[in-house]
Amino acid sequence: MHDHAILAGKRILLVIAGGIAAYKSLELIRRLRERGASVRAILTKAGAQFVTPLSVQALTEGTVYQDLWSLTDESEMGHIRLSREADLVVVAPATANLLARMAAGMADDLAATALLATDKPVLVAPAMNVRMWLHPATQANMALLAARGVTRVGPNDGDMACGEFGPGRMAEPMEIVDAIAAHFAAQSVPKPLAGKRALVTSGPTHEPIDPVRYIANRSSGKQGHAIAAALAALGAEVTLVAGPTRLPDPPGCAVTHIESAREMLTACMAALPTDIAVFAAAVADWRVKGLSERKLKKDGNAPPALELTENPDILATIAGSGALRPALVVGFAAETGDVVEYARAKRARKGCDWIVANDVSPGTTTFGGDDNAVHLIRADGVEDWPRMGKDAVASRLADTIAAHFGATHFQGKTP
Ligand code: C5P
Repeated sequence: MHDHAILAGKRILLVIAGGIAAYKSLELIRRLRERGASVRAILTKAGAQFVTPLSVQALTEGTVYQDLWSLTDESEMGHIRLSREADLVVVAPATANLLARMAAGMADDLAATALLATDKPVLVAPAMNVRMWLHPATQANMALLAARGVTRVGPNDGDMACGEFGPGRMAEPMEIVDAIAAHFAAQSVPKPLAGKRALVTSGPTHEPIDPVRYIANRSSGKQGHAIAAALAALGAEVTLVAGPTRLPDPPGCAVTHIESAREMLTACMAALPTDIAVFAAAVADWRVKGLSERKLKKDGNAPPALELTENPDILATIAGSGALRPALVVGFAAETGDVVEYARAKRARKGCDWIVANDVSPGTTTFGGDDNAVHLIRADGVEDWPRMGKDAVASRLADTIAAHFGATHFQGKTP
């Protein structure tokens, strides 16, 4: 539970869309106001089918904004002012329809227009039928919004008004209050990497054999994506070059999606110059020489012999890129024994400043798992970090990078 004292004096613009969960938004208004926040509300036409404007008005003690074309609303407060005079815009319930309109950038009612016009952070609390939530269209819309920095609370698993069970229930009012408090708490965290640019690689690469087949590896991208998010959270302007993963784009990062190692190198070069570069991707060492333009066929003869050729080493190339070299280059080393010794040698060979080394021996579950136990190898020694979540590794690495750059208002751990 976050400290709710942070909500005092905060201005919330609450958008109530049309879902049965809208009744919970009345409770949300009360809980926010109890904690000293002020709430202005926009009620969509569908929202007004579930809660009355009078209830919203009574609880907010202010006008309920409903109509883009209402002269009264517009003369009192234009939609631009409405969307700007807030510290945070909260959409609860966020219906599949409103999420789709947000993702498409539509401005076909007051709610969508205010969400398009706002320059303030947006938090959504989705609420819908489980199939609607799990539908690829909704998931794609949500991923797109997340990539644009929209944050989300819920939905929760549970019984639904429609009789089905699964994810789709709107988060409870106190969970939304907590997410709002967390948002403001995160905002007050110092941004020691503000003004710094960072490049991060993540995920596996796919090396094509023919138009339908490829060589891949088991990298999930969890560690690299978490590092990109952690650097962005400290204020860095992050470009993430990501191989094929199942992960959503991390919030606050510009993401370039690539498949092969050669595409990754091109995307990385395009992202330079940066101050920081972290190479967490599991880049395939080899690709197929003489890539077949047509699908290889079983034609009764012996199986085709795949001849391999070496891929460019992206880390070594960028670490050796002279004037374009980022000030801090961090590589990864995944070893299955003598981890630190091999990593030390790798640091020298690749020309990087630091190596984050981990043990990927069978049974360690580092590949694809949620935890990681790493060693940080620098010129002046080795730190052994305890086993922790990949998110925790990422934020500790981001803190260590911030400390390295000696930001004056840095308040995190010492390296
Ligand atoms: O040589 P090895 O694959 O063990 O090196 C691992 C480190 O080098 C990682 O940081 C990885 O992202 C990077 N690497 C790269 N390009 C390659 C191979 C590895 O950037 N072709």
